[in-house]
Amino acid sequence: MVTNLDTLFTPAKIGPVELRNRSIRSAAFEGMGRDNNPTDMLRDYHWSVAEGGVGMTTLAYAGICRSAISFDTQLWLRPEIVKPLRDITDGIHERGAKASIQIGHCGNMTHIKTAGGIPVGACSGFNLYSPTIVRGLKKDELQELARNFGDAVRTARDAGFDCVEVHAGHGYLISQFLSPYTNRRRDEFGGTLDSRMRFMRMCLEEVMKAAGSDMGVLVKTNMRDGFKGGLEIDDCLTVAKEIERLGVHAIVLSGGFVSKAPMYVMRGQMPIYSMTHYMKQWWLKYGVRLVGKYMIPTVPFKPLYFLEDAKRFRSELSLPLVYVGGVVDGAGMEQALSEGFEFVQMGRALLREPDFINRLRRESTHHCGCEHVNYCIARMYSREMACHCNVSDLPAKIQKEIQAIKSKG
Ligand SMILES: Cc1cc2nc3c(=O)[nH]c(=O)nc-3n(C[C@H](O)[C@H](O)[C@H](O)COP(=O)(O)O)c2cc1C
Ligand code: SF4
Repeated sequence: MVTNLDTLFTPAKIGPVELRNRSIRSAAFEGMGRDNNPTDMLRDYHWSVAEGGVGMTTLAYAGICRSAISFDTQLWLRPEIVKPLRDITDGIHERGAKASIQIGHCGNMTHIKTAGGIPVGACSGFNLYSPTIVRGLKKDELQELARNFGDAVRTARDAGFDCVEVHAGHGYLISQFLSPYTNRRRDEFGGTLDSRMRFMRMCLEEVMKAAGSDMGVLVKTNMRDGFKGGLEIDDCLTVAKEIERLGVHAIVLSGGFVSKAPMYVMRGQMPIYSMTHYMKQWWLKYGVRLVGKYMIPTVPFKPLYFLEDAKRFRSELSLPLVYVGGVVDGAGMEQALSEGFEFVQMGRALLREPDFINRLRRESTHHCGCEHVNYCIARMYSREMACHCNVSDLPAKIQKEIQAIKSKG
């Protein structure tokens, strides 16, 4: 058992931005926005994470324009919300941490009402997971979306963020262009991998221009899409090398595709009853109860589940890399850092315990206590983020489902 956490508590840089230590709160959707604006709840949550000792906290997925939003509780990064965001970043800085925000476009994973129009994607079709019809994007719209990415970075700077994290994985729009499963275009944005990377290149060029010399830029990308017919590791390595060539400061290595292999990202079982319990539309509630376990298959969890794939990326890239996926204790963090990853991100460990890093300072063998039952994920679609351990009035049927998943181990 590793008890020496010296590397974890060493400062390091992402581009021009120095973090006090190597831990980062990953972009994990808080569901705490209202009408796509920040709230006091979102502010207090990130202040508590900053207070808890992380090097940097990341506000989860913020849409770069109206069509990029999947939920009313998500942020839409636009000048109107600079002031409340500035309050959040000021408070994060006062607590000694740096502030990042994940920016992206959800592509086909939204609805007409939320997106303000028919959801768009690399190609026209139907997305069974939303469920929604999808309109293929026209060429002239792609340049505008790329510019929206640049504008989002400028807004993030005005709001006091030190870094931005571009979401290029998990089957979001950039990833929908990269993946042959969702990109069947016949123009210069489809076909070979090089052509499928064209949209990502345009977006990242705008991002790097806007970031200038004072902001750090991370890109979250897949090491595998996680299903047959999606991107495999060799193609993802080519994508990562292109991201490095574009001058990005760090890559966050992840995997999975929400509309095809959702649990590949986080692993474990999705508690279907808990998920549907909070849903408002009756047809969705009963539909998901009926077919949910087939549409969201379980992928077994183990600590550091992405490490083997991530090591291959480490050996072929030279820019700083961020490890994410199944970090549950200090020993795991030190192991990832000793393999050459500069930073470690955590979602659920910090959701379970926002002061996890400070706990580790006092007690280096402390385990985060997350049981990977994924109630937080099931809940996120309809309510603000919460760990089941902190919800006092859990309905009996949800408690039963959690116990059943726990007993399976
Ligand atoms: C409740 C929840 C919401 C998430 N939302 C996002 C998101 O908005 N963007 C993203 O890139 N990843 C999201 N993720 C994935 C996490 O950032 C992370 O990659 C994943 O949970 C694996 O890390 P962990 O094992 O430390 O939780 C989410 C995860 C959870 C648990
Ligand atoms: S709800 Fe479950 S998976 Fe989510 S943080 Fe809490 S213990 Fe972990």
